Amino acid sequence: MMAEHAAVPVAVHLDHGDDFKKLKQALDMGFTSIMYDGSALSFEENAAGTQIAVELAAPYGASVEGEIGAMGREEFKSVGEGEGNEAAESCYTDPDQAETFTSLTGIDALACSFGTVHGLYLKKPNLDLDRISRIRDKVALPIVMHGGSGISDEDFYQCIKRGVRKINYYTYLAKAGGMYVKEKTANAEDVVFYHDVTLWGVEAMKKDVLHTIKVFSGMEQKES
Ligand code: 13P
Repeated sequence: MMAEHAAVPVAVHLDHGDDFKKLKQALDMGFTSIMYDGSALSFEENAAGTQIAVELAAPYGASVEGEIGAMGREEFKSVGEGEGNEAAESCYTDPDQAETFTSLTGIDALACSFGTVHGLYLKKPNLDLDRISRIRDKVALPIVMHGGSGISDEDFYQCIKRGVRKINYYTYLAKAGGMYVKEKTANAEDVVFYHDVTLWGVEAMKKDVLHTIKVFSGMEQKES
C-alpha cells in the first residue's frame, strides 16, 4: 500500500526467501522481486531451488535474485567457516561457479560474497574488489551486495564501479537512529516522551539515507 502511494517508483522485494509457499504468497501480494536464498545448500540444491523460484516468478513478471557464497553467521555455520562475523575466503563467490549458476537458473541478479557480512562489523571489512570484476566478466547480471551498511563511502564507489547494482543496507541505518535516540535520551533534562523518541530515530535515519543516496549515485564522492 505504501509503495502504491509513493511519489517515486518503489521495488517491493522479498529478501532471503527459502520457502516456496512464502515466495508465492509475496508474488500474489504484488512484490516486484523475490530472492531465493539457497546459499546454505549444496550447489546443485541451490541451483534447483533457484530454478523453481524463477519459474514461480515468471508469470508475475517479477525478477529473481539468487545467491552464491555466504554473507552471514547462519550461512557460515553451514559451510563450517568464518570467525565471528568475518567471512572466510572459502565462503567467497567463485566466478566460474557464478557463471554456471546463472546460466542454469536464469536469475536476474546475483548476490555475491566478497567480504561484506550481515550485521555489525567486528573488524574493518577487507573487500576483495577484484573478485567483483572477475564475476562481472563472467556474469552479465547486476551484482547484489548484502551486508552493505557499515562499509566506507570509498568502498561503495569501488564496488559500484566494478558492477554492484543493488545494495542491501540496514544495520548501520538502524544504528544511526538508535544511537541518536540514546544521545537525546541521555541529555534530556526531565521527561522523555515516546512520540519524541520515534521522531528522533526517524530524523537520524533520514539523514543517513540522504547521505547514502548521494554516495550510491556518485553525487558525493570521497566523504569518508
Ligand atoms: P546489513 O543489515 O548488514 O546492512 O545487511 C542487510 C542485508 O544484507 C539484508 O539482506
